Amino acid sequence: MKHFPQVLKIKRIVEESPTVKTFYFPWKFTDETPGQFLMLWNFQDEKPMSISSIDPVNDEVGVSVKMVGPFTQSLHKLHENDLLGLRGPYGTGFQIAGSRVLAVGGGIGMAPIAAFTDEASKRGVEMDVITAATTKKEILFQERLNTTGVNVMATTDDGSHGFCGFATELVEKLIKQEDYDMMVVCGPEIMMKKLLDISNQYQLPTQFSIERYMKCALGICGQCCVDDVGWRICVEGPVFWGDQLMMISEFGKYHRDSSGIRKQF
Ligand SMILES: Cc1cc2nc3c(=O)[nH]c(=O)nc-3n(C[C@H](O)[C@H](O)[C@H](O)COP(=O)(O)OP(=O)(O)OC[C@H]3O[C@@H](n4cnc5c(N)ncnc54)[C@H](O)[C@@H]3O)c2cc1C
Ligand code: FES
Repeated sequence: MKHFPQVLKIKRIVEESPTVKTFYFPWKFTDETPGQFLMLWNFQDEKPMSISSIDPVNDEVGVSVKMVGPFTQSLHKLHENDLLGLRGPYGTGFQIAGSRVLAVGGGIGMAPIAAFTDEASKRGVEMDVITAATTKKEILFQERLNTTGVNVMATTDDGSHGFCGFATELVEKLIKQEDYDMMVVCGPEIMMKKLLDISNQYQLPTQFSIERYMKCALGICGQCCVDDVGWRICVEGPVFWGDQLMMISEFGKYHRDSSGIRKQF
């Protein structure tokens, strides 16, 4: 039934930051895992959004949406009990492996990282989580994740909260002093490229969630294929281990827009 579109009432909306809202929906769970995404339909257009909250106890799923353009602006205008179309879940999720894990989310990349942290901490994984943003008011999920008992650290580019600097600098510092079994990452591709280099340098197994323009999310249209392996990010991804990521030659260099034109990062 996962490809079957549903029209659901928004159960509640949480304002996470001036630009990010989390929308919660009633949900009948099958095998949803952190790192998977849903296609959201506003009855005009359809776009992918990572699952940011998986709560089978309350039969509830959450997606966190950053307002960037026309589609996400239309979502931010919605209220509780308004209707939205959803289908999914799609794609590969993060594998929960190891007993000590470092999780890193840059900006809205914290959405799948928050779902991963909830699940991994429930399974007894000891975790350090870095939530990175440009400035204090854009830091996501710090309080929510504190309640799971993990160690949450914030970084801001402007130094207004937590560590002053890029997440990559804090990651390198932590890897040198701590003993992690694995790292999971989602954020701007430029940040993930740097973290791929760091994970290789310190031989730390790492999973990355990457984004490409999506249309069908079913593996049919080929819109999200990447050079030069041809993997469909909606089916073979969006989560890849570092050694797989190194086979994607366009990673960290360019992506394609809706018409297939290359855009440099
Ligand atoms: C697997 C995956 C998971 C995502 N998870 C989230 C999430 O949890 N929260 C969130 O806020 N955003 C998420 N996104 C990005 C989100 O889909 C786009 O930011 C959103 O579609 C922007 O639409 P817009 O009309 O508001 O902005 P636009 O101005 O139309 O687009 C802004 C940018 O968003 C990207 N984008 C636009 N349409 C698509 C599309 N159909 N597929 C992929 N990227 C697109 C492009 O890079 C574009 O330049 C995810 C994307 C992917 C591929
Ligand atoms: S979006 Fe169509 S193949 Fe991935």
